[in-house]
Amino acid sequence: MEMTVSVNDNINGTLILPLVEGTESIPEDCERGLPQSMKAQINRVLSDGDFKGKAKSTISLVGGEDGKVILAGLGKTDSVSVHDYRKAGAAVFSSIKKIHGNDFTVRFSDAGVAHMAAFAEGMMLRDYSYNHYKMKDDDAGDDDDDAVKQIRLACGEKEASELTAMVENYRGIAKGVHLSRDLGNCPPNDMYPEEFADRAYEWAKQYDNVDVTIINYDQALKDGMGGLVAVGKGSSRKPCMVIFEMNKEIKGKCPVLVGKGITFDTGGISLKPGANMDQMKYDMGGSATVFGTMEALAQTGHEGKVVGITCMAENMPAANATRPGDVIKGLSGKTIEVLNTDAEGRLVLSDGLWKAGEYDPEYIIDFATLTGACVVALGHEATGLWSNNDEFRTRIHEAGNAVDELAWPMPLLPAFEKEMTDSIIADTRNLGAGRWGGANTAAAFLKQFVPNVDYDKDGEQITWAHMDIAGTYWGAKSNTMVKDGATGIHVRTIHHLITQG
Ligand code: BES
Ligand code: ZN
Ligand code: ZN
Repeated sequence: MEMTVSVNDNINGTLILPLVEGTESIPEDCERGLPQSMKAQINRVLSDGDFKGKAKSTISLVGGEDGKVILAGLGKTDSVSVHDYRKAGAAVFSSIKKIHGNDFTVRFSDAGVAHMAAFAEGMMLRDYSYNHYKMKDDDAGDDDDDAVKQIRLACGEKEASELTAMVENYRGIAKGVHLSRDLGNCPPNDMYPEEFADRAYEWAKQYDNVDVTIINYDQALKDGMGGLVAVGKGSSRKPCMVIFEMNKEIKGKCPVLVGKGITFDTGGISLKPGANMDQMKYDMGGSATVFGTMEALAQTGHEGKVVGITCMAENMPAANATRPGDVIKGLSGKTIEVLNTDAEGRLVLSDGLWKAGEYDPEYIIDFATLTGACVVALGHEATGLWSNNDEFRTRIHEAGNAVDELAWPMPLLPAFEKEMTDSIIADTRNLGAGRWGGANTAAAFLKQFVPNVDYDKDGEQITWAHMDIAGTYWGAKSNTMVKDGATGIHVRTIHHLITQG
């Protein structure tokens, strides 16, 4: 899809008119150059109350002689936000059919630049489908998502350059979201640790300011990445750690993002039940968030230093797989009693978080499809958010609100930490004592592996946040930007946090 900004009064192709609730006739500032018959048709629909402008609603007028129109609802007049414009853009995009053709002109009534840009953002975000495994169907009907679309955003001359810049920025961010979605949607026979690493390595070649380093299985063994190795060793596709460094020559502290990257989670020897196990291909969503965020930052020309660490492994049962009862030791030197091999995300992250300390972090954020318990607590509507720093947690929550990706504060309590350090044989255990508070005990476990500043034994712990995206990385039916599959959640949140937070 091509999105351009246009200052002339031409209407190319189908006209898209975003309108607030209660609009009874076509707004004056949208009338320029509209053929009389088209105006009459729109006014009839509005005055008859056939289109009420409700949020995310659309109506398509294709019978007119002088062209086609899609009306897009923005919701109630007094509270129309950029989020409503973004959702309306996405809703319009999903309503486009072959009959509307490939060219569109969007004309806004009395909208600020930020609102127009958000509408464009919604269209761009929704412009996604994952068709790589479908044979091309020449007769593809109304759902032909691949048609090249040319979208013109009509605006005044004064607004054009600012709108162009904002749309350009959103285009780059949407690329990051779509990359995260592509990685997540890829079936697990084709997406395995080394494949993720190869894609990262190839991807980095297009940018002068990004480096990707792969720590392969042999190196991980040598380096003592016992958590990563314990999870991945039972698979014929061996684990690895992939490190992204952007603008690494810049001196000083920087954000470090860490991702859980289980390309398939069978549970290991603590095998999962069969129902819906296919969904465990999404268990690398945390790493996809990190990779996608790097792409969004690179596309939008971010000039600061940022590091991403993705912990890639496939969790399989095998003769040489880790057993419940095994005690392992990872990079941090702390021992872990593995009581359930299905609680594997925290094991790979224990090494990723410890490794993060090498990059002088301003802060560390990890992303993980970590616990079913988080989905029980928050459903598919919000990510669970924990932090060792209340102010930082609030900053992330606010960055999420700014882009309409909800991250909900959850507690890090000493009692949960105690539960996870209360092993009779090791320093920590990877399972809580009972089934309650499973998302919190998981977070409390991770905290044991967040290093202190400069790894100073008596120093202060690095500012850290944990985002459990088990409910939000896929299955979020209320997310207008997404039809199905992986959502690419939090690429936008973290891009906002790093560039504007
Ligand atoms: N990948 C799963 C978490 C998950 C479950 C994500 C459902 C999305 C939907 C994780 O590795 C896991 O299996 N966690 C266990 C932890 C338990 C064994 C302590 C869980 O949540 O049941
Ligand atoms: Zn698991
Ligand atoms: Zn998992």
